[in-house]
Amino acid sequence: MCGIVGIVGQSPVAPLIVDALKRLEYRGYDSAGVATIEGGTLARRRSQGKLINLERRLGEEPLGGRIGIGHTRWATHGVPNEANAHPHFSNGVAIVHNGIIENFAELRAELMADGYVFHSQTDTEVVAHLIAREIARGANSVEAAYRALRRLEGAFALAIMFSDDEDLIIGARNGPPLAVGHGEGEMFLGSDAIALAPFTNAITYLEDGDWAVLRRDKVTIFDMDRNEVRRDRQQSLGTSFLVDKGNHRHFMEKEIHEQPEVISHTLAHYLDFVEGTTRALDLPFEFKNLDRIALSACGTAFLASSIGKYWFERLARLPVDADIASEFRYREMPLSKNSAALFVSQSGETADTLASLRYCRREGIPIGAIVNVRGSTIAREADVTLPTLAGPEIGVASTKAFTCQLSVLASLAVRAGVERGTISPEQERVLVRHLAEAPRYASQVLKLESQIEAVAHELARYRHVLYLGRDTNYPLAMEGALKLKEISYIHAEGYAAGELKHGPIALIDEKMPVIVIAPHDRIFEKTVSNMQEVAARGGKIILITDKKGAEHATINAMETIVLPDVPEIITPIIYSLPIQMLAYFTAVVMGTDVDQPRNLAKSVTVE
Ligand code: AGP
Repeated sequence: MCGIVGIVGQSPVAPLIVDALKRLEYRGYDSAGVATIEGGTLARRRSQGKLINLERRLGEEPLGGRIGIGHTRWATHGVPNEANAHPHFSNGVAIVHNGIIENFAELRAELMADGYVFHSQTDTEVVAHLIAREIARGANSVEAAYRALRRLEGAFALAIMFSDDEDLIIGARNGPPLAVGHGEGEMFLGSDAIALAPFTNAITYLEDGDWAVLRRDKVTIFDMDRNEVRRDRQQSLGTSFLVDKGNHRHFMEKEIHEQPEVISHTLAHYLDFVEGTTRALDLPFEFKNLDRIALSACGTAFLASSIGKYWFERLARLPVDADIASEFRYREMPLSKNSAALFVSQSGETADTLASLRYCRREGIPIGAIVNVRGSTIAREADVTLPTLAGPEIGVASTKAFTCQLSVLASLAVRAGVERGTISPEQERVLVRHLAEAPRYASQVLKLESQIEAVAHELARYRHVLYLGRDTNYPLAMEGALKLKEISYIHAEGYAAGELKHGPIALIDEKMPVIVIAPHDRIFEKTVSNMQEVAARGGKIILITDKKGAEHATINAMETIVLPDVPEIITPIIYSLPIQMLAYFTAVVMGTDVDQPRNLAKSVTVE
C-alpha cells in the first residue's frame, strides 16, 4: 500500500524524505512525490513510476525547506500518473494519504459546488480542499484539520502541512498504520518504524481515531472527541534492520535463503529443543477447554492456516475452521463460548484480517495473533501475540514468513495435543525432535537451486500451470500456484489431486505442465494414479517428491525434484522451498519485477 513520511526538522528535508520513502518501497507503489515549505512557499515535485524518477526531478529542480511530507502511491482512485501523485494541494494546504475515503464522491460534489477546482481523480484531494475551506471560513490550521477529519468516512492515514506554519505537521490515523518518530528538536511521521529508522528508534504508534499535532519540540495526540490521549513511546527494532539484499539479486531470493535461520529462531521460541518439549504459553484460553478454533487470514497466510487446520485436527483432535478473512468477516460463523480465534498475518495490517479480528472481539471470544510485525495493529488488538521471528520481509511474495507461520502453527498444534492429552510425552519428544530438524533439511533443499532454476527455464515457456497435492500438500499446491502467478504473471491453479477427475482433467494437454507435490506418504499411491491420468492425456508432469517417491512413481515425469526423506510433521515446511524457488526463478526468466510485482502491495491495508 501507500507509504507516508513527514519531517518537521532542523535541516533540508527533501533528500531525507526520499531516503525514508525508499525504505517503504517494499509496500508496492506506482508513483511518488515530496512537498516542502521554504520561506512560506509551498512547493512539490512528483513523478510517475519508481523513486529514481522523483530523485531525477529533484536533481533538476531541488526543493529547500526544513519541513516536508512525502508519499509513495499505490493507485486506488485514478490512474498512476503525475497529476494523481501525492502530495495534493489546496490554497496553502498540502496532504498525503494512505487508504480510501469512502464518501469522497459526496464531498467532491459539495466542494465543487463551493467553487473548488479539482486537479486530480483522487479521493485524497477532497481532504486538502475540505481543510482549505475550513481555513477560509476562519478556522486556524489545527481546527480546520480536525473539522475536516470529522467529515471523512473510510480508512485513512494522513500527513498534512500548512504553508503559513513551518513548525506544524498534522498526522491522523483511521485504519492504515501511522507512527510518530521522536527526534532531538525535530519530529517525524511515517507509515512504519522501518521508514523512520534512519532518524530515530523512539516510536509512538497512533491508534485508530488518533490525530497528532507535531511540532519540533513536542507532539500532542488527540482522539476524535479532542481529548488528549497518551500513547506509549517504544524502542523500535527498525534501526537494527538493514534494508539490503546482501549478495542476492532480489529480496525474495535473500529471504528464501534466510529460512533455515529464521525457522530455527521461530521454533526455538515455542519448543525446548533440549528437553524435547513444547513451551507453556500464556494464552487467553485453555486448549483442553476449546471445542473449536477459528483460523482466519488472507493469501499466503490463509494457506498456512489451511495447513494448520490439518495439524490441529490430527494431532490435538481439535476442530478448526480455516477461513479467508474477507469471507470470514461476513459469514457470521457461530462461535461458542469455548471457541478461540487465531489470526495469521505477516504485516499485521491486512484490513480484512483486522476486520475479522474485530468481529471476533465483538463476539467476545479470546484472540491470538500470529504476526511478523510486533507493533502492528493486529498484534496490538489481539489478546496475545504469537510471533513469527522471520525478520522484516521485504519481497512482496511471502516466503520466510510463510514457513515461520507453519512453524508456529505446528508447534501450537503439538502443544494443544499435549494439553488435551492426545499426545503422550514420548510422542511430544519425537515431534519436537522432528520439528527441530526442519532448519537442517531446509538448508539441504536450498542446495537444489540449480536443478530448480533449470526447471524454471522450461516452466517459463508455458502460460498455464496446474499444481496438485493431497492432505497438507493441497494448500501447499495452492501456495505454489499463488507464488508463481503473483511474481511471474503466469496463470496457475492449485487443486486437490483427488479433484482432478471432477473437472480440471479437462484442461490437461501438452500445453499445461502439472506440478505434483507428493512425498512418499500413506496416500502416495493415490496421487500416482492421478499422475497416470495426467500422463495418459499428454500432460507434462513435474514431480516434487522424495527418494522413495521417485522410485515408486510409475510415470515418465518431465522432471523429478527429489527432496530428502523428511518426517511427516515438517513436510509442508520443507516442500515450501522448492515451490518458492520454482516461482522465483521462473519470474527471473520472465523478467518481471520480482520484489514488487505489478498491481501488488506488501500489505493490503484497504479492503
Ligand atoms: C503472498 O505472497 C502475498 N503477498 C499475499 O497473498 C499476502 O500473503 C496476503 O496479502 C496477506 O498478507 P499478511 O500476511 O501481511 O496479512
